[in-house]
Amino acid sequence: MSIGILTSGGDAPGMNAAVRAAFRCLKMRDPDCEIVFFRDGFRGLARRLDSSSDRNVDRRAVRDIIHRGGTFIGTGRVPELLLPGESHPSYAERVAARDDFLKVAAINLYQMRVDNLIVIGGDGSFCGARIIGEAFRQHFPRRPFRVIGIPGTIDNDLHGTEYSIGYDTALNNVVDAIRKLRDTIESHRRAIILEVMGNTSGWLALQSAIAGGAAVVAIPEVEETWDHDRIVRSLDAGVRRDYRYFIIVVAEGVRRRAGEDWCEGLKRKLESDPAIESHLGHPMEVRINSVGHIARGGSPTALDNTLAGLLGSGAADVAQLGGLENQDPVTGDVMVGCRGPQAIVTPLDEVIARSPRLVTRDSELYVLSQRLMLSAEQPF
Ligand code: F6P
Repeated sequence: MSIGILTSGGDAPGMNAAVRAAFRCLKMRDPDCEIVFFRDGFRGLARRLDSSSDRNVDRRAVRDIIHRGGTFIGTGRVPELLLPGESHPSYAERVAARDDFLKVAAINLYQMRVDNLIVIGGDGSFCGARIIGEAFRQHFPRRPFRVIGIPGTIDNDLHGTEYSIGYDTALNNVVDAIRKLRDTIESHRRAIILEVMGNTSGWLALQSAIAGGAAVVAIPEVEETWDHDRIVRSLDAGVRRDYRYFIIVVAEGVRRRAGEDWCEGLKRKLESDPAIESHLGHPMEVRINSVGHIARGGSPTALDNTLAGLLGSGAADVAQLGGLENQDPVTGDVMVGCRGPQAIVTPLDEVIARSPRLVTRDSELYVLSQRLMLSAEQPF
């Protein structure tokens, strides 16, 4: 039997180190085990196998990749796996396309004798992996098959792990951007609205705002953070206390929840606020910037590569021993996550049901952010 590995969804720095770690640990325990890399995410499962997969990969395939960002085996999202609502006009067509995709994927996995498929990605990828697992078992009920997820997403919003691979690098990239922007906005005494990735969850925006010393943060899950008037009052308080410049970090999902022109609307409000203008002696100047995909790029941090090593090694244990070394075996599809420096295993169904993990007003990081950031009520 062989073990398949693929990366899926948004690339995350450290994915290469996770592939390498899984490869090394699998081969260390069983030098003869066959490992297959599927290219470009789930897409690689359903193409002609000679062009979309690397069979029987050896040590050379994973050399010189540990320091590289992105994912050397490629990634992607497969629209066929996402179904629209039943009332959608092309629903039946989409179901047929999905079933075709799943059938080809199941047959390919069967022919390649894959009994464990390691999927490195986020919650969308795990939903896809679960559907592929179910389809395989339906087509080939007598053949054992297990999906082993490894959390790899800069959003860090998965249940079943404290951290996901890529988050720390993205956080450092965003904080680096904030520090660079400080230089220019301090020189002009401006405010900057900086958009950061995070469509559903605001962890990256929240933590980068804390670490970068932002004045304000806005995240999709906590509605009070999108309130323009609240932000204007905070900045006015800052102007009165002679703060020289302001950083407003906003997660991209705020536009989806509060309106596409949220950033422009806030800029207009700040630039025309009479109280701010009278305290400054001139209207406030505001610029809008976005970190965008730069957050996902560059060499992974030491923490991300260490996490990737831990989780890749845990996934190899589950594939070969049925569970983490020195622990009870586990059944069914699972995800290997971390609690502190330990690997932990959670059923994939539970991960999917409880993800994305969202920021709430009670989240420790959110409470901390409200203590550290600017507010109209601050007494000093
Ligand atoms: O899921 C990771 C993520 O980086 C999100 O924060 C973001 O919304 C999304 O991917 C964007 O992905 P892409 O532009 O690659 O489709």
